[in-house]
Amino acid sequence: MKVLRLAHVAVAVSDLEAAGAAFAALGLQAQAPELVAAQRTRAALVPIGAGNVELIAPAGNEGLQRFLDRRGAGLHHLCLEVDDLVAALAELKGKGLRLIDEAPRPGAHGYQVAFLHPASCGGVLIELCEAAPASPAGAAPSAK
Ligand code: CO
Repeated sequence: MKVLRLAHVAVAVSDLEAAGAAFAALGLQAQAPELVAAQRTRAALVPIGAGNVELIAPAGNEGLQRFLDRRGAGLHHLCLEVDDLVAALAELKGKGLRLIDEAPRPGAHGYQVAFLHPASCGGVLIELCEAAPASPAGAAPSAK
């Protein structure tokens, strides 16, 4: 497993358009929001140099809605792009890390994704992603 880059830092918001306007004030342009059906979220990338901020808002995602209800808008997760997501999950599970997703599932921006539990990552929710058009074996779309 190799981490290729920090793909994005995700910010949970209840209003994507308002959050996009806040970044526009910094001279940064949010891309058009995408409905991520598998995750029941709406997401919009704000490209910043080689990286991105990802604005995410719930579209039926109860966990994300709870996060917003309890804590308000704010930093939600980091996303690391890896070279081989299936291999990464097997390797990390072997090391005893707690996985939220045992198998990749469809994420935003054309990526396959899987989340690691914050308890195994210094209190930070970490998403792993791999640019992958095809569904890897064993991947079952799940709504979280
Ligand atoms: Co993300």
